[in-house]
Amino acid sequence: MTKRITVAKTSEIPLNEARAFPVGDRMVAIFNQAGVFHAMDDFCPHMGASLAGGWIEDGTVACPWHAWRFSLADGCWLDNPKIKADIFQVFVVDDEIQVEIPDE
Ligand code: FES
Repeated sequence: MTKRITVAKTSEIPLNEARAFPVGDRMVAIFNQAGVFHAMDDFCPHMGASLAGGWIEDGTVACPWHAWRFSLADGCWLDNPKIKADIFQVFVVDDEIQVEIPDE
C-alpha cells in the first residue's frame, strides 16, 4: 500500500532548483526541472550529502559533494545503475506537490 503526502506548494521550488522536505522519517528532495517536478530521497547513496543542494542539468542532479550524477527519472547513478537513490511518484494537484510513499 502507498499513501500520498502533500510536501510543498509549487511556488516554493524555483525553476531548475530543488528543496528538501521531511516526509515520514526521511528527507525527500523535490526538483523543479523545467517546470516538471521529481522527487528523490535527499540522502546521497555515496556519503549522504543533500541532493537538493546539487546541480540540476539534462534530467540529472549532480551531488554537491563529489559530483556523482543521478537520473531524476529513476534515481540511478549514471556511472553504475546498480546504485540508486529512491524515487517517488509526484502528483501536482492545483498548487500542491504530493509524493507517493510506501504506507508503513
Ligand atoms: S556524497 Fe554524494 S557523491 Fe559523494
